[in-house]
Amino acid sequence: MRLIIDTDTAGDDCFSVLLALAHPGVKLEALTICNGNVAFERQVENALYTLEAAGQGGNIPVYAGIPKPLMRPPLDAAYVFGLDGMSDANFPQAKQRPEAKHAVDAIIDLVMANPGEITLLAQAPLTNIGLAVAKEPRIAQALKALWIMGGTDNGLGNVTPAAEFNFYVDPEAARMVFQAGFNISLVTWTLTVASSEMSEADLAAVEAMETPLSRFFTTVNAAAVAFSRARYGHGGTLHPDSLACACLLDDSLITASEACVVEIETGGGLTRAYSSVSSSLLPDQEEADPALGVAGAPNARVIKAVDSAKFRRVLTDALR
Ligand code: BDR
Ligand code: CA
Repeated sequence: MRLIIDTDTAGDDCFSVLLALAHPGVKLEALTICNGNVAFERQVENALYTLEAAGQGGNIPVYAGIPKPLMRPPLDAAYVFGLDGMSDANFPQAKQRPEAKHAVDAIIDLVMANPGEITLLAQAPLTNIGLAVAKEPRIAQALKALWIMGGTDNGLGNVTPAAEFNFYVDPEAARMVFQAGFNISLVTWTLTVASSEMSEADLAAVEAMETPLSRFFTTVNAAAVAFSRARYGHGGTLHPDSLACACLLDDSLITASEACVVEIETGGGLTRAYSSVSSSLLPDQEEADPALGVAGAPNARVIKAVDSAKFRRVLTDALR
């Protein structure tokens, strides 16, 4: 599998990259950096350092993308991941430097030069992907698959009751991407909460492995542990980006999915970035309200359930 990861590299974003690097069937073609979790330049450094920590420094190009959302003020999640996004670990600067080419152009060029070949994992706000498909609409068909971590599946958000971080930061970009005609699989925050938790015991087992990558994981995850303790009273952590990556690497993790119509609210106040996910449990919308007309065709496969124990094993094994 030839893979690009679009990432706001901090915390779990790093672990998702490690998962992809650990998989023998994956050729990681590029990391592209999007605005999101922490200061943009820090995220570029975090991506470079993560590659170096995995013994891949100099092997995978890193491209800087769009440093802020299309229309909204920037928003970060440093309160979860630390100011540097790495639990303020003060890692040294990696030797590898970012490429001169813009991430949006790197995505377009890689996808258009290899039609039907490239899978893209979007684990950040969708600014880079939205602008890439605006600049070159043919990437929607040329990309083999677009996996997105974002949104909720009619559940509680993690920024507001209605919205998840990646969609909330740049709802307009998210809307553009879902309307562009990509072959989308969606891993939501709702699924993340249900199935991606590394418990305190899981984290202790990782720490006890005492490998370079388990130490990297434990160090980078420390702020999320502290956040979880303070807010929820336990030290388990959630791993949305790693879960999305694990699903794309191994379909057998997925135990239920549904083809859905997914739409992103851009006009709402309270519902800014709410992801409306259609459901077979609902009546046909033209019957429920004729004014709505017939629903459009599904535009995404929404992952509904995964083998959570297997996910935790896969993540742990990647750190051995
Ligand atoms: C998503 O938001 C970010 O903070 C995480 O990196 C993840 O991609 C979860 O809502
Ligand atoms: Ca992310």
